[in-house]
Amino acid sequence: MTQLPGLLDTEAIRKDFPVLDRVVHDGRKLVYLDNAATSQKPRQVLDALSEYYERYNANVHRGVHVLAEEATALYEGARDKVAEFINAPSRDEVIFTKNASESLNLVANMLGWADEPYRVDADTEIVITEMEHHSNIVPWQLLAQRTGAKLKWFGLTDDGRLDLSNIDEIITEKTKIVSFVLVSNILGTVNPVETIIRRAQEVGALVCIDASQAAPHMPLDVQALQADFVAFTGHKMCGPTGIGVLWGRQELLEDLPPFLGGGEMIETVSMHSSTYAPAPHKFEAGTPPIAQAVGLGAAIDYLNSIGMDKILAHEHALTEYAVRRLAEVPDLRIIGPTTAEDRGAAISFTLGDIHPHDVGQVLDEQGIAVRVGHHCARPVCLRYGIPATTRASFYLYSSPAEIDALVDGLEHVRNFFG
Ligand code: ALA
Repeated sequence: MTQLPGLLDTEAIRKDFPVLDRVVHDGRKLVYLDNAATSQKPRQVLDALSEYYERYNANVHRGVHVLAEEATALYEGARDKVAEFINAPSRDEVIFTKNASESLNLVANMLGWADEPYRVDADTEIVITEMEHHSNIVPWQLLAQRTGAKLKWFGLTDDGRLDLSNIDEIITEKTKIVSFVLVSNILGTVNPVETIIRRAQEVGALVCIDASQAAPHMPLDVQALQADFVAFTGHKMCGPTGIGVLWGRQELLEDLPPFLGGGEMIETVSMHSSTYAPAPHKFEAGTPPIAQAVGLGAAIDYLNSIGMDKILAHEHALTEYAVRRLAEVPDLRIIGPTTAEDRGAAISFTLGDIHPHDVGQVLDEQGIAVRVGHHCARPVCLRYGIPATTRASFYLYSSPAEIDALVDGLEHVRNFFG
């Protein structure tokens, strides 16, 4: 068995993930390499979810009965866990949403409806990058269409990194918000946050970071990042679907208007007008994703029990190994950084002229689960002149043996298509 420095004990970890024992297609053992799409869930999270429904289920913040109080304590306890996980200065800065897309849409709408000095209008500019997930493009396009603001973006270099050579022309005195991804879901690139934030701060622009592919894989410290908003989702970090997070700086959350109206986000309501509850409740209209938040809290406990530093080191070792092994496959072209430096554990590639959907299907027949397509980052495919990629992405339970299986599988794909 291949041993690499920094690897976690994946044999022990995999025992926590029942689905990893699945066999698919004629008794083939599942090789799950689609972690950037969603991670698998450990028993500890599954148990927390069923325990919540079996023992505590009630609506939160509303009842005086035992179950309502316990459910509220669990939901708010999950908020405490998230705040600690990202080193937020205050638990009130943690807003629960249904996913990272909703978190990013929330920021765009807050700014669209805001008063000065935050308001995005026809005299202002919004800055994103060409490597964003659609969830960090479309909300800003919608905002630009609605307000007349100009949408600008950083392009990409040939090796899959941001081209910051014209940073002073892209981020200007007119820039209201710079929103960019910390780790690209398609290229794997880890972006130079400090450089971008320094320039944004020079011109007084707000910064929003999409940390969907970072929060599951590395320590995340919102105070060290110095952004104004950070968005991520629970289901990519061992948690359930249906729960996302938006962290925002407290003074901003106090000043900015809500996006969704409804129960629990108000202070008082009359037939003429309403006043709002303080953040984070101002931004959590209606019954929130209670069980999902509890599940996310359990996922955070689980990740902490392993250690985010150790998960990062494990994935770095795997990525180095994968990049090296994939270089042995003839006609394989990595789309994105070709070394493990400043890159995460999602690796996109093309294989000669074989369409990625065919690659994915033949790999699937061998039990190997990857994602194919444009990965909700179609501008990246357009930039590199390709219709789609095949993407393998690793997590804390991934092993070098699975990378070997992928490389063997790709050899089989090549033979299959002659
Ligand atoms: N954003 C997810 C991915 O990259 C769904 O696959």
